[in-house]
Amino acid sequence: MLDELARIGRDPATNGYVRDAWSAADLELREWFRGEAGRRGLDVREDRNGNLWAWWGDPSRRPGVVTGSHLDSVRQGGAFDGPLGVVSAFAALDVLKNRNFMPGRPLGIACFSDEEGARFGVPCMGSRLLTGVLDPERALGLTDDEGDTLAEVMARAGREPRAVGRDDETLAMVGTFVELHVEQGRGLVELGSPVGVASAIWPHGRWRFDFLGEANHAGTTRLVDRDDPMLPFARMVLAARETAAAHGVVATVGKVRVSPNNANAVPGSVSAWLDVRGAREQDVRAVVGALAQGVAVSEESWTPVVDFDAALRDRVAKVAGDAPVLPTGAGHDAGILASAGVPSAMVFVRNPTGVSHSPQEHAEPGDCEAGVVALANVLEDLCH
Ligand code: GLV
Ligand code: MN
Ligand code: MN
Repeated sequence: MLDELARIGRDPATNGYVRDAWSAADLELREWFRGEAGRRGLDVREDRNGNLWAWWGDPSRRPGVVTGSHLDSVRQGGAFDGPLGVVSAFAALDVLKNRNFMPGRPLGIACFSDEEGARFGVPCMGSRLLTGVLDPERALGLTDDEGDTLAEVMARAGREPRAVGRDDETLAMVGTFVELHVEQGRGLVELGSPVGVASAIWPHGRWRFDFLGEANHAGTTRLVDRDDPMLPFARMVLAARETAAAHGVVATVGKVRVSPNNANAVPGSVSAWLDVRGAREQDVRAVVGALAQGVAVSEESWTPVVDFDAALRDRVAKVAGDAPVLPTGAGHDAGILASAGVPSAMVFVRNPTGVSHSPQEHAEPGDCEAGVVALANVLEDLCH
């Protein structure tokens, strides 16, 4: 399955993946999901927010056990972040069928829409809309780099934008959610284990900083006459690193928009996106507060700390072969569901270099298989 997915949305120049929500690649990935589900005789539904659900058993009669992840990617991302969880879900179901296991509860495979927020800036859009933590009006008005709104993009893909928003009917079908994901650090390498289980997700957010100045000629404008927004932007980037280190958190400026972006002009404006994460919310907030002096800042997303359900976490870790338990600084749909009251857990698969959100992201086939077996065991246990 990973080999089949390998060609979709890959940039041949870099081998990185570009799978923006609702792009041609994303639509192809959704078709692939429907094909895999159909081949297994599962009933596929797309909810009002663009999330896909493949069901073995009828979830309207009894809340099910759901596994899965997402198929979209960051720009120039790797092959595993998201797809490994969806592929492992189908593979785990195959393992259960080979065991002649008949689930006592409906078993679902989910593919969440727009987990990365690469196109519209807000991560976990599908699960945030589903659970109602994201206002539908705000979501529909978000724009991509072309200036197209989510509403326009969804309509173009044949979806009904007016239908997005909290979906209690779909949520009621999800009794328990377990997301398998490639690890995005080297925790499991250090622990010497192919699989692990999540304890918590760090609180994290994204903020847009808008530095305004005056566009002018690079050759004829004296230094004293300049109002160059690149300078406070540069100071902010350096301060982000220092302030984050002082507070024991991580801060990243990974996206910048310079206008008009001429080599021979002082820019008129610079917009920069700051991502800050850490174990404690007050430290994350302190960093953003310190950097936000004298500049226009807007909070584009905020995700509070997620402490996964302790009983479920321990049960999953035990069934996954006494897997080690560890926290993560990466955001996931499982975290959004957990915050909305759905008992949720995560299984991580070892990443030998820890590199993620990059074409270098990797997991060894043997570890992926260990993940599938662990997931199958967990689903079997939860579906009894
Ligand atoms: C999602 O991968 C995130 O943590 O940004
Ligand atoms: Mn990711
Ligand atoms: Mn992911």
